[in-house]
Amino acid sequence: MSAPWWQSAVVYQIYPRSFADATGDGVGDLQGIRAKLDNLAWLGVDAIWLSPFYRSPMADFGYDVSDYCDVDPLFGTLADFDALVADAHERGIKVIVDWVPNHTSDQHPWFQEARASRDAEKRDWYVWREPTADGAPPNNWIQTWTEDGPTWTLDPATDQWYLHLFLPEQPDLNWRNPEVVAAMHGVLRFWLDRGVDGFRMDVLHALGKDPDLVDDAPELLPIPHSALNHHESTYEIVRGLRSVLEEYDGDRMMVGEVFLLDTALVASYYDGGQGLHLAFNFPPLFTPWDAGLWRYRIDEVVREIEPQGWPSWVLSNHDQVRHRTRYGSEARARAAAVLLLGLRGTPFLYAGEELGLEDAVVPEDRVVDPGGRDGCRAPVPWTGAADHGWGTPDAWLPWPPDAEHRNAEALRADEGSILHLYRRLLAERHGSTALQVGDQVLLDAPDGVVAWDRVDGGDARRLLVNFTDQPVDVAALADGWTVAVASDGTGEGAPAPAELAPDQALVLRRP
Ligand code: NOJ
Repeated sequence: MSAPWWQSAVVYQIYPRSFADATGDGVGDLQGIRAKLDNLAWLGVDAIWLSPFYRSPMADFGYDVSDYCDVDPLFGTLADFDALVADAHERGIKVIVDWVPNHTSDQHPWFQEARASRDAEKRDWYVWREPTADGAPPNNWIQTWTEDGPTWTLDPATDQWYLHLFLPEQPDLNWRNPEVVAAMHGVLRFWLDRGVDGFRMDVLHALGKDPDLVDDAPELLPIPHSALNHHESTYEIVRGLRSVLEEYDGDRMMVGEVFLLDTALVASYYDGGQGLHLAFNFPPLFTPWDAGLWRYRIDEVVREIEPQGWPSWVLSNHDQVRHRTRYGSEARARAAAVLLLGLRGTPFLYAGEELGLEDAVVPEDRVVDPGGRDGCRAPVPWTGAADHGWGTPDAWLPWPPDAEHRNAEALRADEGSILHLYRRLLAERHGSTALQVGDQVLLDAPDGVVAWDRVDGGDARRLLVNFTDQPVDVAALADGWTVAVASDGTGEGAPAPAELAPDQALVLRRP
């Protein structure tokens, strides 16, 4: 049986606000994305994941949804969405949409109705608690993006606290209520019926909550509860989601955001094949550019995730400082591309990493995100002109550094660019089942280097990544191999060199 598409695919995350603007209002939109599909087909991605484009008051830039089944006018219309899906599918690109099940916007009609009175029909769709005598919140859970803010707001209209792991504008749904489950299943079906190929599920591990709302251990504070919540009731919720997907053609996929920095726990949400198809595993994303530390993370994935399901790999997204910025140089970002696209599992790219974008420097008066994540959300520069292809020089956030030179048009014209490196890596994957779905064999390697083979029947690739700023002798690993792709573009097609250059990574094939 051939592997499902989402195992061999490379997924490309699009943050719609920041990707491409068809209307010239400085905010990206669905028509903007549609107009760039040929660029993505040229690059060679297999699927796109769209961060939320639903109706939203934008307190959390779309992760506060006020209508799950409509497009926010800022991004376009449902007809634009349908056209985008049709055009993507025509190019063989799958479409994954974001689904935000833990909380709605406080402006969602469900919450509006729920908060109206203590005996409102939808009251129990959210999580309410009585005020205490001392006026303290119901427990010690800490709100995301605060040091000590509670996850509770006392709603004056009915004098009860409601739960919100994120902003007060994002009240948590009560997944113990079967009506909530049914309504949110309905949302999945709405988008499945429109032809989406899968979902990225927001803070999935947070859905099932301890019914007693037990305090977090004091030594864990001030970690926000959203990064700690782990309750066994979530597994059943996830199985329910899976069964909704399986009502369709057996080919739809869900990837869960499991923001628990413990790979064994992440693995548990695959639930032995009954849970998630894929889960984001973030510890590697937080791992510095160091061979020993990375080798540890890779071993951990092999040990914990592989027995449960198919791994995923990600280095950047709309919530974290871009890895080009974290790792500190383009040479490392290039080597990291080889790492990301060479490991066994489904790689997730974040729009702009193929351009080697750094985080924007955001002056105080341009800060808009309550979570301090504006830098990685800087708009993608398409050209070197003052408006960078956006129809306005004043996009919603400042441009990333050096956009005059570091933009899609300029890098496409330069075969030595990081953009062309990503394209060659994706092409190499497409031509190699070993890279897509093959076994992975980790090799002994000199200090500072991580080396592994990918093998599928007669197809094999060897990968070498030098995490140091020194040349390293790899003659013993290189003998008999040819360079397929080099992170710095040198020697492709030639016999593999005896030495890796500083921060260089290679994909090798048999001559
Ligand atoms: C995780 C999302 O990636 C992030 O952007 C969002 O703010 C939170 N979940 C809350 O929905």
